[in-house]
Amino acid sequence: MSRKATASAPSNIAFIKYWGATDLEHALPANASLSMTLDVCRTTTTVQLHDEEGPDAIRIASDEGTLTTAPESFSQRFARHVERLRERMGVHGRVEAVTRSSFPSDAGIASSASGFAALAYAISAAFDRLDTPEEMSIRARLSGSGSAARSTFGGYVAWPSDPDKPDSPATQYAGSDIDLRDVIALVQRDPKHVSSLEGHRRAATSPHFATRQKNLPERMSRLSDALTGGDFDTFTELLEEETIDLHLVAMSSTPPIIYWEPGTLEVLRRVRRLREQDSIPCAFTMDAGANVHVICPPASEDVVAASLGELPSVHGVIRDRVGSGPRSESEHLF
Ligand code: PMV
Repeated sequence: MSRKATASAPSNIAFIKYWGATDLEHALPANASLSMTLDVCRTTTTVQLHDEEGPDAIRIASDEGTLTTAPESFSQRFARHVERLRERMGVHGRVEAVTRSSFPSDAGIASSASGFAALAYAISAAFDRLDTPEEMSIRARLSGSGSAARSTFGGYVAWPSDPDKPDSPATQYAGSDIDLRDVIALVQRDPKHVSSLEGHRRAATSPHFATRQKNLPERMSRLSDALTGGDFDTFTELLEEETIDLHLVAMSSTPPIIYWEPGTLEVLRRVRRLREQDSIPCAFTMDAGANVHVICPPASEDVVAASLGELPSVHGVIRDRVGSGPRSESEHLF
């Protein structure tokens, strides 16, 4: 056996965020979440299977194609994910992988989501075991990254939290015909100081965590309705409320986690000005990082991107949009 397969998977930005787990080891979420699948921000992964015994290995490809050994912590997560995937599929064989993302990793753009979804797809393809997006969602989540469970669908994706079925996969909530754009303002180059895994672990120590859990079902239902009903004003209000709520919990956990950088506030202020003074519909959200995702209808995208790009603390802008799910790729990375 020596089979090679390559797949790519999108990142996603959560509108209602997974923060806190009932079982962190298996990424079973304390609350339901909803995200938009991205188009430009993707990870591509090539997997080669080998017959002989030996450790699984992953390397990272640069844009120029140079391969470097992955950092130790990432290699360990990769090896654990591969082991669980083999177990779930009942297959054997050493895995060698190379991965490349189209965006900076560990900076508030969910690289673990696209990375582990791409890995699950590439390994499943190499073993000839590709399955439904629901089963692929469960396989992606075996990585321990919850957001990866949502990266196996295009459009807008809901991931439930059902105490009776804690293992539930994500499902598609709405298709990519709802055309929203995501203008990502990069204010931080370096990896964040506290991983989202650690953030989930600390979440329940916040005195605000219980209130968040109580408020989430209604926020989820209103935001989902606003999204499908095209009510961007209500969507904006709820999206920003949810973002602040997540960071309030993070900042008030023990020990506190502060993801914001000075540039974050500069972007938030600009978004408010665009909306209030210039009447440009746009709404901010953030994951566990300092960078800001500005969600807007297509007609706002150019103005938003130009306006954010001129801020002194913004060192780059990625223009993304709602996209489709994972796909097989014909070009291998090695
Ligand atoms: O998928 P994880 O374990 O990296 O956690 C994701 C956490 C957030 O990005 C902050 C929220 C989310 O639902 O994507």
